[in-house]
Amino acid sequence: MKVTVVGAGNVGATCANVIAQKDIVNKVVLIDIKEGTSEGKALDIWEAAPINDYSTRVVGYTNDYSHTKDSEVVVITSGLPRKPGMSRDDLIATNAGIVRSVTESVMKYSPNAKIIVVSNPLDVMTYCAYLTAKVDSKRVFGMAGILDTARYRAFIADALNCSPKDIQGMLLGGHGDTMVPLPRYTTVAGIPLTELLPKDKIDAIIERTKNGGGEIVNLLGTSAWYAPGAAAAQMVEAIVKNENRVFPVCSLLNGEYGHKGIYLGVPVMLGKNGIEKIIELKLDAAEKALLDSSAKAVRQVMDVLDKQLVAAK
Ligand code: NAI
Ligand code: 2OP
Repeated sequence: MKVTVVGAGNVGATCANVIAQKDIVNKVVLIDIKEGTSEGKALDIWEAAPINDYSTRVVGYTNDYSHTKDSEVVVITSGLPRKPGMSRDDLIATNAGIVRSVTESVMKYSPNAKIIVVSNPLDVMTYCAYLTAKVDSKRVFGMAGILDTARYRAFIADALNCSPKDIQGMLLGGHGDTMVPLPRYTTVAGIPLTELLPKDKIDAIIERTKNGGGEIVNLLGTSAWYAPGAAAAQMVEAIVKNENRVFPVCSLLNGEYGHKGIYLGVPVMLGKNGIEKIIELKLDAAEKALLDSSAKAVRQVMDVLDKQLVAAK
């Protein structure tokens, strides 16, 4: 089984490396537009195989999609990362052009692939890939929720001085400052979070989670890659192993949560066909209001893309 990762930058190379270390597919193909980047990083990852004990062959090519033929899953990480002071939305025009051309090339050689978009602004780039791929939305979705809940879980683990492994959390909405972490659906080994931490502490964790991407950008001068790469690899694993794992995933809504024709983060079951099922949680009025306001923010960026597409015609 073959998986392709497009973009051999920080997130793409990390994702390829984590997939290889999981030893769950025969081959990972890394593609980048910059001469030598994917070849060099793929070779480095392959040379780690004897040390890290995996058989997954990792190969890299500069912009040659013929080698991606019949990929089961394609992860799209190509695009510019956010720089300090730059919002995710500033990235839209450049990254939409990249995501569009990459999706066309991917579809040419792997018309049956499941596509996981990582490029920002995430919800709208996923929509852009969906418009380009022209396939069932169950096969085109975005990675953000696993990363955002991982940050949320890590911060809860800090506050409780417990293992992050025991924390289960859920969040909804767009990948941005309007995301909606759900303390009512967060537990520590089955114990509701609300019984373990006071409201002010939970609120502070939620705020930090919402700004989790920006916190790293401010520290590093570019956006995160270890957790994002691992998050995308976890989605690949759920698909290639047909695990039916339940994750928050950026998915096209068709009436679920009262929204239609918009990509938003919601809990889904992820298996061999991609999104096997969207799970609808019962939200209270406050949670629904937060989700609606997140949807509004995503819709505004979708409108920017729609206008760019009309202007380009
Ligand atoms: P990076 O700059 O390290 O890597 C991007 C790579 O894409 C570069 O190697 C570049 O040469 C390549 N590229 C550009 N145009 C291309 C094309 N047409 N075809 C193939 N490759 C192309 O950036 P990084 O840090 O890996 O981030 C990648 C994207 O992921 C950014 O848009 C970033 O904002 C986003 N991101 C999204 C996250 C999420 O949660 N969804 C989390 C972290 C980053
Ligand atoms: C992140 O959340 C910037 O989307 C990127 O790290």
